[in-house]
Amino acid sequence: QALIKDLYRNTDSYIDQKVQLSGWIRTVRDSKTFGFIELNDGSFFKGVQIVFDEQLENFKEIAKLPISSSIKVEGDFIHTPQAKQPFEIKATNISIEGLSNTDYPLQKKKHSFEYLRTISHLRPRTNTFSAVFRIRSLASYAIHKFFQDKGFVYVHSPIITGSDTEGAGEMFRVTTLDIDNPPKNDEGKTDLTKDFFNKETNLTVSGQLSAEAFALAFRNVYTFGPTFRAENSNTARHAAEFWMIEPELAFAELPDIMDLAEDMVKYVIGYVLEQAPEEMNFFNSFIEKGLLDRLNNAHDSSFGRVTYTEAIEILKESGENFGYPVEWGLDLQTEHERFLCEKVFKKPVFVTDYPKEIKAFYMRLNEDNKTVAATDLLVPGIGELIGGSQREEREDILAGKINDLGMSEEDYWWYLELRKYGGTKHSGYGLGFERLIMYLTGMSNIRDVIPFPRTTGNAEF
Ligand code: 4AD
Ligand code: MG
Repeated sequence: QALIKDLYRNTDSYIDQKVQLSGWIRTVRDSKTFGFIELNDGSFFKGVQIVFDEQLENFKEIAKLPISSSIKVEGDFIHTPQAKQPFEIKATNISIEGLSNTDYPLQKKKHSFEYLRTISHLRPRTNTFSAVFRIRSLASYAIHKFFQDKGFVYVHSPIITGSDTEGAGEMFRVTTLDIDNPPKNDEGKTDLTKDFFNKETNLTVSGQLSAEAFALAFRNVYTFGPTFRAENSNTARHAAEFWMIEPELAFAELPDIMDLAEDMVKYVIGYVLEQAPEEMNFFNSFIEKGLLDRLNNAHDSSFGRVTYTEAIEILKESGENFGYPVEWGLDLQTEHERFLCEKVFKKPVFVTDYPKEIKAFYMRLNEDNKTVAATDLLVPGIGELIGGSQREEREDILAGKINDLGMSEEDYWWYLELRKYGGTKHSGYGLGFERLIMYLTGMSNIRDVIPFPRTTGNAEF
């Protein structure tokens, strides 16, 4: 059995050979005495043309096969270097594996992405989604390779957790209690000690705190796994379940992880351009004109770097606020972020040193006592791709912050202990994997880069 990818990549070794293929019919055309099938076998972005004629005993049956039927083909590999397709298969035998119904929803016409979301189980069979999900697979491999080649240790942080890393309260509760009839304590309040873990647990919003513990043992580590946010924001960039990559480095300060993030994004761009040129050209032609220029530009430039305070000045001077107030102390809106990277810098840009009030509790307080050593990486077309920081390594300042925010020191006892037993400067960031895939492909909705997206009102598949 040959794979179509191999026919394209190693064409010379197949010339005049017999081949066996299996796959699904994309199109079939016939005249009275011969016909053509476009066969796709999943191994490659492109399919291959099968020529068949009356010599096949089941010629009539094959000519009438509905689209998406699965077949096995034996035939001769014919080199056609002058033609649009560099080769075709002249069938000597075709057998039917699985007939498709004639009401197959993906007939050869353009369907809207909205419609395709209603058939998430079939959409990976389309060109666009086959390209998206192959890039997703390649990009995840590239990320592992990038970190593993540098000696980083991959940490599996827990999915079910008792701590709220971001302190933002956007968590999905995990419980075994009968929610209609929960056990009560003497005061009539729900008694969580009767739950599976004897306490309230949630789906993780981030693996960062676990990664910090491992960074203080292994030095350089990363997580790569699913994370969950119960934020009810119905946008094209937010999902309730998304994958995050979170490197964490001991003995590292903010600029160190900015350098790392820049290298990593460039590495992944380079990797997918090299490994999947057919898919990337497809995106460039049909999804976002200019995609390849945008990616090559990011790959070959040095990312911009600007402080939050400077960014606010730039926005104020531009006179553009996109309907949201721009004031020192307020968070940047996506529109502001995109303006900065798309119009001002025209490339990815790191914004650093945000006001402490708008960032998470664990970020290291700067000397000015007003800002923290945080960074967001903003990229054209998306806005925030990465959020990271140097971590507060000073136990007293961290404990003070936890108390000030009304969080409980008890809940974070182990996190505070990391500062007690040989704590050191350390820093890390989180990259939203789906946003990276949007950035790499030009796809504009997060629902279209996740195999079975979990967004508001969306858990059918
Ligand atoms: O900025 P965030 O919230 O940072 C953290 O979670 C830190 N603990 C990371 C760290 O320092 N280790 O999230 C990081 C990234 C964002 O920049 C964004 O790309 C993505 O995760 N993200 C989401 N992606 C899709 N849907 C959502 N609801 C997302 N929320 C965050
Ligand atoms: Mg963030």
